[in-house]
Amino acid sequence: MAVLGPGGVGGLVGALLARAGHEVIFLGGPDSVRAVRERGMRVRSGMFGDFTVRAEAAGELRAPVDVCLVTVKHNVLDAAVERVSPAALGDGLVLPLLNGIEHPAALRARYRPELVVPGVIRVASSRVAPGSIVHGSSFVEIDLASASASPERLDELATLLQGAEVQAKARADEAAMLWGKLFFLAPFALLTTAHRCAIGDMRTVHRKQLIDLVAEIAELSRADGAPADVEAALRFYDAFPPEAQSSMQRDAETGLPLELDAIGGALLRIGQRHAVPMPLTERLVADLTPLSKGSAAAGSRR
Ligand SMILES: NC(=O)c1ccc[n+]([C@@H]2O[C@H](COP(=O)([O-])OP(=O)(O)OC[C@H]3O[C@@H](n4cnc5c(N)ncnc54)[C@H](OP(=O)(O)O)[C@@H]3O)[C@@H](O)[C@H]2O)c1
Repeated sequence: MAVLGPGGVGGLVGALLARAGHEVIFLGGPDSVRAVRERGMRVRSGMFGDFTVRAEAAGELRAPVDVCLVTVKHNVLDAAVERVSPAALGDGLVLPLLNGIEHPAALRARYRPELVVPGVIRVASSRVAPGSIVHGSSFVEIDLASASASPERLDELATLLQGAEVQAKARADEAAMLWGKLFFLAPFALLTTAHRCAIGDMRTVHRKQLIDLVAEIAELSRADGAPADVEAALRFYDAFPPEAQSSMQRDAETGLPLELDAIGGALLRIGQRHAVPMPLTERLVADLTPLSKGSAAAGSRR
């Protein structure tokens, strides 16, 4: 199998697959390719222990694979998929684990739709250096659902991931799965980044704005055909340790590009399509846009 984007998510899941005995090839830029070829993919994890796997690495896919995980960030997706041509992929499944909601359509425009199986992942994992991953959470959970792939291939993929110690579940409804993640993530990411605060202050100091934003996004979710429970979202935020930060906020602090367009931009585009007013989201996206490309030094990591 192949992993396009050997970072926090791709490095970890790819290493778990390799540790379970699968042949894995990591596809990325020259630094990651060199690091993996020379030293393997290294993982430090409280849950799995520290381990290193030997794996292939290359700048592009040259031979078919059963599955290609897509684990880059949304802002580099177009450039990254150039490394995996539809011909090289063959009949392999494409499993994107990006946050956001628009990437499955982009992938179905490039690869045969019946090969694309979107997933959402719940994990905390970081690429601390090329080929070196620190996994901090006590869970790695992936939900899978596809409006276009066969249920048999979906189930096979879930089983394959389970065999690598990933808690994987096949779900029935792709839109509900993607919206489920975006609905919780978007308010958390936008508010903590805009106010430069952790979740504790977001749900206390900025509670009124949080409630209004969750309600605004819930209406959009419903207009797009996916259920949304405002009270459940608020309970979810209230259950987090107060110091929890969003990855968008961490990226902003580090000067890395933000997944602002994949999260806030996508909400605005869907809002326009359904004529649902999104005034709060619009203001937060406008406020965060100057940060979205990252600072020159940190943004030019590759
Ligand atoms: N990390 C988490 O805990 C977590 C949890 C849930 C969801 N997510 C989502 O998962 C997605 C991936 O996040 P991440 O944290 O894993 O990001 P990341 O650590 O920044 O990893 C992204 C990887 O993509 C590689 N890359 C960049 N441009 C590329 C290109 N043109 N071709 C091939 N590879 C390229 C980077 O390569 P280099 O290593 O060479 O720079 C890096 O290894 C995001 O949508 C994120 O929101 C992440």
